[in-house]
Amino acid sequence: MTARSWLPIILAAGLGTRMQSALPKVVHAVAGRPMVAHAAAVARAAGAGRLAIVTGPEVDVLRDALRDNGPVDFFVQTERMGTAHAVLTARPAIAGFTGDVVVLYGDTPLLRPETLSKLRAALNEGVGLAVLGFEPADPSGYGRLIRDATGALTAIREDRDASAAERAIRLANSGVMAFRSEVMLPILDQIGNGNAKGEYYLTDAVAIARASGIGIAVQTCPEEEVLGVNDRSQLAAAEGVMQRRLRQAAMAAGATLIAPDSVTFSHDTRLGRDVIVEPNVYFGVGVTVEDNVHIKANSYMEHARIRKGAIVGPFARLRPGADIGPDARIGNFVEIKQATIEAGSKVNHLAYVGDARVGARSNIGAGAIVCNYDGFQKHFTEIGPDTFIGSNSALVAPVKIGEGAYIGTGSVVTRDIEPDALALERSELREVPGWAARFRARHRK
Ligand code: UD1
Ligand code: MG
Repeated sequence: MTARSWLPIILAAGLGTRMQSALPKVVHAVAGRPMVAHAAAVARAAGAGRLAIVTGPEVDVLRDALRDNGPVDFFVQTERMGTAHAVLTARPAIAGFTGDVVVLYGDTPLLRPETLSKLRAALNEGVGLAVLGFEPADPSGYGRLIRDATGALTAIREDRDASAAERAIRLANSGVMAFRSEVMLPILDQIGNGNAKGEYYLTDAVAIARASGIGIAVQTCPEEEVLGVNDRSQLAAAEGVMQRRLRQAAMAAGATLIAPDSVTFSHDTRLGRDVIVEPNVYFGVGVTVEDNVHIKANSYMEHARIRKGAIVGPFARLRPGADIGPDARIGNFVEIKQATIEAGSKVNHLAYVGDARVGARSNIGAGAIVCNYDGFQKHFTEIGPDTFIGSNSALVAPVKIGEGAYIGTGSVVTRDIEPDALALERSELREVPGWAARFRARHRK
C-alpha cells in the first residue's frame, strides 16, 4: 500500500431495472450486507478514509445501507448521463482532494482490497491513470482495452462502438479506474458524448490521457472479483462466490465444517478455533462463536453470541440478543431470544426463553416456556443459578425464580419464588380404579 491518501468514488446511481425491485439495486444484500456496503468495506480495508458515493434520488435508502460504514459523502446524480458524468457529480470532492481518486462500482461486491492496493501502486510508478482489466470468459458487452504494438494502452472501446477486430480482444475493462487527482478533472472535462449511447463515458479518459502524454497503467484481476450484479441470478452467483470465500476463511481459521456447501455465513460471522459446524446451519448477521463450540445440524442463528464449549442444536434457533454461556447446552426445537443463558445451564428440548436471564448450572425442562409478552409489552424473567424448571412449566413474566428453587412440572408461575423453595401449581391427581376397562367394555358392545 502506498502512503498517498486516496478517495474512492463509488458509482451507485444505477436504476437496476433488471432486478425487478422496489429497492435500488446496490442495497440488495450479499452475505447479509448491502452490495454498496461491500464496496465501501473493500475501500476501507484498502485504507480509505472518506468515501464519495454517487447515488440516484434514493439517497436516503443508501444512507441507511451505509450507516455503519464511517464517513461518507453523497452526491446525487439526478439524470443518468453516463459514467464520466456520474463521476463528475462528485466534482466538489475531487476538486478539494490531493492524492489518488479511485472509481468503483456499487454493484461489484467481490473486489478484493489487495487488488485496489495493486491498482494504486501502479499510479506510483509515475503514471496518471491506471485501469483494472480482466479476461472474461465471454467479453461481449464489456469495453475492450485497446493497446499499441508496445502493449501500451491507447483507448477503451465500448462494445457497441467497437469494430469487429476490436471485439475480438479478450482483455476487458472492469470499470475500476484510478487517477492522480492533479490530472483527473482536466481529463474528465474533455470527455464528450459523441458515441452510440450519447453518454459521457469515463472510459474515454484513456484516449484523452494518451493524447496529453499522461502515462497509463493496466492491472488485471480474476473475473470473479469484478462480477457485476444486474439481475437476481447474478446476485445469487455473487452470493455463491462470497459464501465460498467465507467458508474457506472459517476453515482456514480453525473451524471444521462437515458439509461446507450447506453452511450459510454472513459477512461478519466470527468463528473461533476448534468450532464444529454440522450440516445445514445458517448464520444470520451478527453471530460470534467462541472456541470449542459445537453447532449441530439445522440450527439458525442471528445477532447471537455462543461462548466457549457450548453445544447448540440440532434444530436450535437463536434470535437476536441470545447469549449462550460457556459449556451451556441448547438442544432441539429450542428458541432463545434476548436472553442470557449462563455457564453450564441446559435448555435441551422444546423450550422458549425470551427476555430473560438464566443463572449458571440451571436446568430448563422440556416444553418449559417463558411467557414474556402480554400482547402489549415484553417483560423480563430472572431465573437464578442452580434452579430446576420442571417440564411444561410456564413462567409468566415479570417473574423471578430464586437461586436453587425447583418449579414442579406443569406449573404456571405468576409470582416470584424465593430461593431454594419448591413451587408447585397443579390440581390433585385422581385415580379411578377399573375405569378404563369399564369404558372399553361399554364401547365394544
Ligand atoms: C461500464 C464501462 C465498460 C465496462 C463495464 C464493466 C463505461 C462507459 N463503460 O459499462 O467499459 O466494461 O462497465 O462492467 O464506463 N452509473 C451511474 N450513472 C450513470 C451511468 C452509470 O451511476 O449515469 C453507474 C452504474 O450504476 C454502474 C456503473 O456506473 O454502477 C456502470 O454503469 P453501466 O451502465 O453498468 O456501464 P456498462 O455499460 O456496464
Ligand atoms: Mg454494467
